Amino acid sequence: MLAHARHDTAPSPALSAVPKSAPERARSVPAADVASIGLSQPSDWVEMLELVDRCFPYATEDMMGWWLCYQRPLLHVARLDGRVAGFVHVQARPESDTLWINILAVTEEFRHRGIARQLLAHCERLAAEWGLGRLGLQCHEANASALRLYALQGHAQVGEDFHADAGGRYIVHDKALPASAIAAAVRTPAADPRWRCIAHRLIYRAWTRRRARTTR
Ligand SMILES: CC(C)(COP(=O)(O)OP(=O)(O)OC[C@H]1O[C@@H](n2cnc3c(N)ncnc32)[C@H](O)[C@@H]1OP(=O)(O)O)[C@@H](O)C(=O)NCCC(=O)NCCS
Repeated sequence: MLAHARHDTAPSPALSAVPKSAPERARSVPAADVASIGLSQPSDWVEMLELVDRCFPYATEDMMGWWLCYQRPLLHVARLDGRVAGFVHVQARPESDTLWINILAVTEEFRHRGIARQLLAHCERLAAEWGLGRLGLQCHEANASALRLYALQGHAQVGEDFHADAGGRYIVHDKALPASAIAAAVRTPAADPRWRCIAHRLIYRAWTRRRARTTR
């Protein structure tokens, strides 16, 4: 459970999944598919929440609700074939000139098709637009496929952190972005209007109640 996950400034452990079993390999998939990446919509929620349930057992419904309803500009979804192929939640940390990646996940059937690489490239574009010069994240020490992905994408391992409530030891990563691409001033995205947050909150509450009834 991530008690501090609601606050933008809190040190997030980056919901780096602890792999549950042998990594699925799907080498026979066709060459890279280009996903369209945009802000999350309520129609994406069930697929996103189910993906989180499968990958991040310690993520709470509360935390996801907070992100979906109040932090939509920070939650970017990759869509392919009308499905949620993956998503990323980011956080601007101007004090360290960093766009921090809190969570990155790709739906199982879309893995090994370059979706995570595209989401990381998208994060680099966001960082540049928002005037931030670095990407940061944490990854569980046993998450071999994610560690390989970050190494291949040029993220350096710069430290480690321990989260007893989220599976143990995490490797802290950092990537400096080319200075020429970064906007001159830090400009983080506007929050959603209040009416939309409230509407999303109502939809989310109805969904969690329905889910609680059906899983009882
Ligand atoms: C880790 C994770 C995000 C990777 O997502 P992904 O979309 O499969 O990643 P990519 O496709 O960009 O790259 C993964 C592999 O596919 C390969 N690949 C990419 N495009 C490919 C293609 N078109 N054809 C075949 N292989 C391809 C990459 O070379 C890479 O190979 P490697 O594992 O041998 O290094 C995903 O497995 C996941 O969501 N895991 C659970 C949650 C998690 O661990 N999140 C990260 C927390 S830190």
